[in-house]
Amino acid sequence: MIRRQPGMDRFLQLLAAGVAVLLLVAPPAMADDDIVEVGVNWGSQLSHPLLPGSVVKMLKANRIARVKMFDADSWPVGALVDSGIEVMLGIPNDMLETMSSSYGNAQDWVKENVTAYGDKLKLKYVAVGNEPFLKAYNGSFMKTTFPALKNIQKALDEAGVGNTVKAVVPLNADVYVSPDDKPSSGAFRPDINGLMTDMVKFLHDHGAPFVVNIYPFLSLYQSDNFPFEFAFFDGGKNIQDKGGVTYSNVFDANYDTLVHALKKAGVPDLKVIVGEAGWPTDGNKYANFKLARRFYDGLLRKLAKNEGTPVRKGKMEVYLFGLFDEDMKSIAPGNFERHWGIFTYDGKPKFPIDLTGQGHEKLLSPVTDVKYLPNQWCVFDDGAEDKSKLPSNVQYACASGDCTALGYGCSCNGLDEKSNISYAFNMYFQMQDQDVRACDFEGLAKITDKNASTRGCLFPVQIISASARVAPALLLAALLALLVIVFV
Ligand SMILES: *[C@@H]1O[C@H](CO)[C@@H](O)[C@H](O)[C@H]1NC(C)=O
Ligand SMILES: *[C@@H]1O[C@H](CO)[C@@H](O)[C@H](O)[C@H]1NC(C)=O
Ligand SMILES: *[C@@H]1O[C@H](CO)[C@@H](O)[C@H](O)[C@H]1NC(C)=O
Ligand SMILES: *[C@@H]1O[C@H](CO)[C@@H](O)[C@H](O)[C@H]1NC(C)=O
Repeated sequence: MIRRQPGMDRFLQLLAAGVAVLLLVAPPAMADDDIVEVGVNWGSQLSHPLLPGSVVKMLKANRIARVKMFDADSWPVGALVDSGIEVMLGIPNDMLETMSSSYGNAQDWVKENVTAYGDKLKLKYVAVGNEPFLKAYNGSFMKTTFPALKNIQKALDEAGVGNTVKAVVPLNADVYVSPDDKPSSGAFRPDINGLMTDMVKFLHDHGAPFVVNIYPFLSLYQSDNFPFEFAFFDGGKNIQDKGGVTYSNVFDANYDTLVHALKKAGVPDLKVIVGEAGWPTDGNKYANFKLARRFYDGLLRKLAKNEGTPVRKGKMEVYLFGLFDEDMKSIAPGNFERHWGIFTYDGKPKFPIDLTGQGHEKLLSPVTDVKYLPNQWCVFDDGAEDKSKLPSNVQYACASGDCTALGYGCSCNGLDEKSNISYAFNMYFQMQDQDVRACDFEGLAKITDKNASTRGCLFPVQIISASARVAPALLLAALLALLVIVFV
């Protein structure tokens, strides 16, 4: 039998005591006010996406623990594997027909995009469609959405993951209405009331939540009579509902309009998740850093208090929209559509934001390892002889590029005519990866290495797209593999 030396025992005792003291005194790795409960939407409609691995690194650096996506692209999803980040994957509207027409298609989707990852992906929800009942879609997805939802949930159940992964349908707040603007009068839109009633009962039966997108910015944008202060959370405007209930912001009022609609549909306790909430920073007179900061600050402080709304007390689950500006988004809803990011196109935080809702004045960690195209810009060549072709060329540049910052009240609205033209040319040139042929415009443009930005108006230099960065590496790997096969 080995007898321990007394000195060694003493040492171990001290060590144990030291560890105990450290555990008591040292702050826990993650202090309570550091936990980020709020999730984020990670969209993919960018001409030059960042490397998914770098984005996931940034999410972790900012302690963001939930992410919602609009498809199931295996590259970003692969980057989320083993990250510990909770995920909502999406099935785009144009796949609803496929998912509804045959159960086998839904099974295939689940096999390839869910079960293939096993436990390594912390999948919580599958979003079937995105705002499919939006009035602007003229009912295009009315027949396919609910059958697709049922097929996907059934496939999840049969794959043995239905208890932890729920199929949901993110809907725009335009699926419910209130004739007198009072939340207590809330009900589903008459044209889809029957469908919505069946669908929310299905969600309820399967333990799935209702996912809704709520945009106070749009309330303001869509109506000149909307009380400005009511879009934010810092008071200045109240509305009264029945029974002495008071609302001080449209976010709560909108949310409770849904809660009342759910009550009328027979599922008063259906869980609600806010799938999107945010504020754009350009493309409209109300879209700027100052108002976005005010909105996010108020929303995040409110969420941190876990106070809920007047009729639904307690913790709320909310996903911010969105992570990055997306220059390929349709601007049919408005020029602000490409400016929803809390980060710029190149992964930099736009303004201080405290995701924990403690109101600390701090910038989020940026995406690192971003690589840019050369420092050069495409500008209007003042010396060009024939200027008659300017309008058609500017129009061309703006149709394929992004001129949404040039409009009234936007960041580049103050430009003179020449800079205006240069801005349009440069946006197109950058989007085309600075291809020299994209800076001709019938002899009206030239490339310069002088930063063309002016105060407040950024003439961006585009980043090297994720796909362009890995393509050479993949090629090299393929070549090496070939060499190995040939010579070994
Ligand atoms: C899996 O998701 C991807 C990305 O959204 C999609 O392109 C693919 O078709 C899906 N797989 C199946 C079998 O449906
Ligand atoms: C919906 O209908 C309007 C007017 O009829 C039309 O302009 C629009 O393109 C349609 N949208 C879709 C998605 O079908
Ligand atoms: C600049 O372009 C925008 C958008 O095309 C236009 O509204 C504005 O009037 C232009 N400004 C000047 C000075 O040409
Ligand atoms: C160009 O100038 C703007 C405004 O001063 C600045 O924000 C931007 O970083 C500059 N771009 C480059 C590539 O140096």
